[in-house]
Amino acid sequence: MLWVKAFHIIFVTSWFAGLFYLPRIFVNLAMAREDAERERLLLMSHKLYRFVTPIAALALLFGLWLWLGYGITGVWLHIKLLLVVILVAYHFYCGRLLALFKQGRNTHSHVWYRWFNEIPVLLLMAVVILVVVKPL
Ligand code: HEM
Repeated sequence: MLWVKAFHIIFVTSWFAGLFYLPRIFVNLAMAREDAERERLLLMSHKLYRFVTPIAALALLFGLWLWLGYGITGVWLHIKLLLVVILVAYHFYCGRLLALFKQGRNTHSHVWYRWFNEIPVLLLMAVVILVVVKPL
């Protein structure tokens, strides 16, 4: 079980590296004025999104293995799963925003992306407190 939990935490950490960095690239993309800079940032975000999506799937898979395979559960996990659904929706919304950037149809400012970038921080804090402290 500890090996499964170890890989769960490894993939969760790697997923969050992407969830923290991708919106930061979007901040720069929203400010970019030169075509060459925009192309470079688009390529970076495209590769990052393609790299981190399977890692997100592995993080969830090992989490489900802990829950359904070892029967670890509680009210804390049900609330955690709700937050995980929001995280997955955030991940795919980043994919949608990336597609809009590629089409030159982004409508959000860099200030909007700076606030958008804080959402995974708040979700990470809530999920880690729920799973480690288990307040409920
Ligand atoms: C399908 C989604 C997920 C499920 C079913 C799930 C389930 C679980 C379970 C059952 C444990 C073991 C808890 C224990 O042994 O006390 C666990 C550990 C953990 N989970 Fe998840 N998890 C999921 C997604 C996530 C996500 C998205 C994060 C990060 C934001 C996360 C962070 C953690 C951490 C840090 C631990 C280790 C806690 C400890 O060792 O005390 N999990 N998870």
